[in-house]
Amino acid sequence: MSNRGNFSGRLGFILAATGSAIGLSNIWRFPYLAGQNGGAVFLFIYLLCIFLFCFPVMVGEIAIGRAAGTDAYGAYTKLGGKKWGLLGLFGVVSGIFILSYYNVVAGWAFGYFIETAFGPLLEANDYGAFFREFVNNIGHNFFYALGFLALTGWAVVRGIQKGIETANRILMPSLFLILLGLIIYSLTLPNAMAGIRFYLIPDFSEITAQTVFDALRLSFFTLSLGIGGLITYGSYVKKSEDIVYASSVVTWADTIVAFLAGLMVFPLVFSAGQSPAEGPALVFMVMPEIFQGMGPVIGRIVGSAFFLLLCFAALPSCISLLELPVAYFVDEKKWPRKKVVWVLCGVIFLIGLPSLMSFGAVPALNKLMFYKERDFLTFVADLTDITLTIGGCLMCIFIIGRWKLFNMNAELTQGNPGFPGSFAQAYINFTITWICPLLLGVLSVLII
Ligand code: PHE
Ligand code: NA
Repeated sequence: MSNRGNFSGRLGFILAATGSAIGLSNIWRFPYLAGQNGGAVFLFIYLLCIFLFCFPVMVGEIAIGRAAGTDAYGAYTKLGGKKWGLLGLFGVVSGIFILSYYNVVAGWAFGYFIETAFGPLLEANDYGAFFREFVNNIGHNFFYALGFLALTGWAVVRGIQKGIETANRILMPSLFLILLGLIIYSLTLPNAMAGIRFYLIPDFSEITAQTVFDALRLSFFTLSLGIGGLITYGSYVKKSEDIVYASSVVTWADTIVAFLAGLMVFPLVFSAGQSPAEGPALVFMVMPEIFQGMGPVIGRIVGSAFFLLLCFAALPSCISLLELPVAYFVDEKKWPRKKVVWVLCGVIFLIGLPSLMSFGAVPALNKLMFYKERDFLTFVADLTDITLTIGGCLMCIFIIGRWKLFNMNAELTQGNPGFPGSFAQAYINFTITWICPLLLGVLSVLII
């Protein structure tokens, strides 16, 4: 274990896991999915999923990682045998595919930062058109996505302690502050209250299977669950740490940021008279309009800060996505870390190219014949969401059926002597035993 490196103490791990959790899904995905799914109803089901299913899954996943002390594939193999190793491998492959499109969107955020700070973004008069033109410009996007991936690779090469921890320590608090500032500003705009009503007052007659499904998969995605990313991070956690406590901090932090992002976006959407159901472009179309309204100087400062922070939120998530396959090749194949990182970055970039070109540049990728006429990026995102949720549920089955609950409980008692007999134990054990496998059943029905 010692030569693999550890997180430096409690804060180090919490910051890294929070950094992995808080990302594009909080600020980019959560608002647009909530907007497409009736606002408050979506928020309600999302919160339910987070606390009912996701929190216990997170605890279990970190426990597996720490107990095994190795990468996702190695952990399942070590605790469960070769066959279970496949589940770890499944996660490693999902991580590669998620990063392939996630990095493209991070590239958008990077590009929007550049265009706001140094370019003409604030002078545009139609941000829908601006976005379409922006994503259509393959050359630019190629550069932004490649730049972002290189940054991720560089951070991962530097290793656990320096790369991941230092970044998170500064970035998370700044993100939080700018969100608060923008919320206060957005609430002063005309018609802001209509946005608040849409976001906070649920109309339960609007619940559909789609709403439940979208909320469920987003809740797994937002906490980085189900693909072994947290097994990998868990393997770097010291035995003296309290996993349950750490998980609750991560869960709350992530949930609060998503909630705040909604609180920021919906008043803006309604006061600008836009549709909340716009889809993946929502944040990229709504936010610039607001910055424009702040005047050329303040708008440029606040706007560039916002998009820069979006990049900052995305970076630790990208790092954790890359660390997942990297740990696999380093731990299992004994390849040198540096080589693994750059080879994987190359592969991931190539896999991401169709996503990068799926917004207009290549019409066939913009309207997929085999997938609801949606774009390729959405296709990969939807597909990987499902693997994530299914991966999380299979992990619960692994804990109950193979690894056994008492082993998990023993792992969780290390660093938390009060765990046996506590409410937390009852709740975590119950959920993992009953709700999560049940969920898998429901999910497969929903998908088929
Ligand atoms: N949780 C990250 C986000 O919210 C995305 C992510 C998913 C990161 C899975 C790692 C693993 O944006
Ligand atoms: Na998140």
